[in-house]
Amino acid sequence: MGTYKLILKRRTIRVFQDKPVPFSSLKKCVNAARLSPSARNVQELEFLAVNGREQVARVNEAVRFGGIVREKGRVKGEEPKAFIAILAEKEKSSQEYTPINAGIAAEAIVLTALEQGIGSCIMGAIERERIKGILGVPNSYAMPLVIALGYPKEKPVAGKPRGKDMFYWTEKGQLHVPKRHLEEVMHRDRF
Ligand SMILES: Cc1cc2nc3c(=O)[nH]c(=O)nc-3n(C[C@H](O)[C@H](O)[C@H](O)COP(=O)(O)O)c2cc1C
Repeated sequence: MGTYKLILKRRTIRVFQDKPVPFSSLKKCVNAARLSPSARNVQELEFLAVNGREQVARVNEAVRFGGIVREKGRVKGEEPKAFIAILAEKEKSSQEYTPINAGIAAEAIVLTALEQGIGSCIMGAIERERIKGILGVPNSYAMPLVIALGYPKEKPVAGKPRGKDMFYWTEKGQLHVPKRHLEEVMHRDRF
């Protein structure tokens, strides 16, 4: 599938099949992130990938999911099967660019996962210090984001906004994610 189609198809996945994610797939994701652009080519980011049951379960306790999971609670077996933590070496980091670099790396991970049939959720609502403790990350690193991964067990779709707010809604068990119209977000020549 071409990049444009992949990007259009991508939706955040929070409900996962009970099927392990091989480490080789995570490695491919991290390789894509490694080659992502970074401001001034500083490359302050490093990546920690975990797919061991126990470690994944512990990290899962320290993240907060939205969507159906938030509405209905987590069903056993549908938890993420892997995490990739994006780490930023504090000494090389900048307030201005590191969060941007982390976002770009996150998208590289998400799209590379999707190309392999793996769904994911970029996560910022996380207990950073707790996760760093679980994964043994030294204090010299910050953790801007983690990404939860697994084979999808839900098929969310992009929908038209209902009014001004951007809350999701569920219809026949399917999550709808409202997105603003192209005409509303794209300005041409002059604002
Ligand atoms: C920086 C960032 C942080 C996010 N943090 C969380 C999070 O902590 N928990 C969660 O369930 N989703 C999180 N998301 C996923 C968003 O909720 C999701 O991208 C948004 O609802 C739009 O849905 P879509 O990704 O399917 O287009 C995050 C996304 C981004 C980009």
